[in-house]
This record gives sequence, structure tokens and C-alpha cells, in this order.
Amino acid sequence: MEKRDTAAGQAHETPLLERLGGSEGIGRWVQRFYDKIARDPLLAPLFPPDLTASREKQHAYFVEFFGGPRLYSETYGRPFLRFRHRHVRIGRPERDTWMRLVMEALAEEVDDPALRDEVARRLGPMADAMINHHPDKQDPYFFNA
Ligand code: HEM
Repeated sequence: MEKRDTAAGQAHETPLLERLGGSEGIGRWVQRFYDKIARDPLLAPLFPPDLTASREKQHAYFVEFFGGPRLYSETYGRPFLRFRHRHVRIGRPERDTWMRLVMEALAEEVDDPALRDEVARRLGPMADAMINHHPDKQDPYFFNA
């Protein structure tokens, strides 16, 4: 069975970070991802107009998440991602669009489909957990507006 470290999900034979091209590779991926967010009619309005800080945070987070140095935690503290997304209304369409764009951006950087699948398997459930808006049922943790 695959051994998992806590937040970073390390303990892979070849660390995911390395297979993704290290911090530079993740940087290129995040740039592409945020360029897509900036052009997306559903997601762009949810983000600040200037995406510089968001890009930087996402890069730091992914480097850490995929097994690298604790760039995000050391600067911003524990991620508590669901809490940090509480001001953003995220329903199923927003979640699915986020996943689609992050994977499209990855496909422009990474040729190996198995590696892309692995990333999707890591991010998918976390993206599910960011959903905080259920139009037809009460969210168990947050009240809908
Ligand atoms: C695997 C799932 C996700 C991860 C790892 C992730 C990661 C992050 C991180 C690290 C931040 C910066 C938090 C901070 O320090 O303030 C952030 C912010 C944000 N995320 Fe996500 N996110 C995920 C899913 C989503 C989804 C599904 C949406 C839907 C639209 C979304 C929209 C946003 C927005 C709007 C911000 C705020 C940007 C800002 O104010 O600078 N995220 N996300």
C-alpha cells in the first residue's frame, strides 16, 4: 500500500515534485493555470484582479503539497484550505472548472498520462472538499448565503 505523509503526501519512490519538474516545473504549470483562470468567465470573477499574489501562493502550496520544502506553511501558516476558501462561493461547476483548468495546464507541461492521472487523483478529492455551496442541501459545515 502506498505510504502517505501528512500534508505533503511524500514517501513516493521518486517524489512527485521531481517528476513534475521541481519548483520550476510547478512554476510553469501554475503560470499556465492562472492564465487560464484569468480568461475563464466562471472563475475569473472569483479571484482578485491582480493574480500575482495568488500565483505565488499557489506555487508555494503545490511545491509543498507535492513533497518539496514547506514554502507555503513557513510563510502563511497551516493551510486550512477549506477555511481559506470560505469567502469564495464554490459549487460543483466551479470545482469542476478549477479541476479542468488545472489539468489542462498540466497537460501542456507534462506528457506522461500516468503522471497526470496521479496528480488528478491527488487533487480531485481536495477540490471536492472545497465545495462550500450546495444549492439544494445545507452544507454540513457552512451556512449557504
Ligand atoms: C485541490 C484543490 C485546491 C487547492 C489545492 C487550492 C489552493 C489554494 C491556495 C493555496 C490558495 C491561497 C490561499 C491563501 O493563502 O489565501 C487558494 C486561493 C483561492 N482558491 Fe483555491 N485551491 C483549490 C481549489 C479551489 C477551487 C475548486 C476553487 C474554485 C473556484 C478555488 C478558488 C480559489 C480562490 C478564488 C482563491 C482566492 C485567491 C485570492 O484571494 O488570492 N480553489 N487556493
